[in-house]
Amino acid sequence: MRHTDKILPYLKKKLGSARFKHTLGTTKTAEALALAHGENAENAVLAALLHDMARWMSARQMIAYVKKYKVRVPDLENVVKYNPSLLHGFVGADMARRIFKVKDRSVLEAIALHTLGGPNMCRLAKILYLADITSPDRRHSGVKTIKRLAEKDLDKAMTAASASKIAFVLRKNAWLHPDAARTWNSLIK
Ligand SMILES: [Fe+2]
Ligand SMILES: [Fe+2]
Repeated sequence: MRHTDKILPYLKKKLGSARFKHTLGTTKTAEALALAHGENAENAVLAALLHDMARWMSARQMIAYVKKYKVRVPDLENVVKYNPSLLHGFVGADMARRIFKVKDRSVLEAIALHTLGGPNMCRLAKILYLADITSPDRRHSGVKTIKRLAEKDLDKAMTAASASKIAFVLRKNAWLHPDAARTWNSLIK
């Protein structure tokens, strides 16, 4: 992999060991899914390695970053107010472009949308979204079902994964980002 020489030391330095382990697990899962679905495996590895690269930043740092570089975030005001950790995908995609010179649009889209999803996601974005929640370090119930579905049918797996994420938000009585609902609606129509 041409990028990993610089990326791995960055991740090792910036992310805690649990997050680093999660990143490696997500990468392995994303690569396997890419191979299973005829997607570019090198892009899947790159997107997965970088997907949580902004995770070391505090909410305050991410908000400052978004303002400084004018990063486009859907419903930014409410994200800042209710769930600033949702910024890490959008900030991460921008950092991947600036720091590691990633240009591929599908890789950048996959990083940006890995938490929330969105309508009309490209195949790589679906693969990363699914790899992130079915990586070996994920223990919540439902992972096995999503993992099994993901090997065969990305959209069926996306439907199950999106439902599980929305259910989690509702159980916590937390704010639901409209794009989480949009993701769901785009999958069931
Ligand atoms: Fe993430
Ligand atoms: Fe992640």
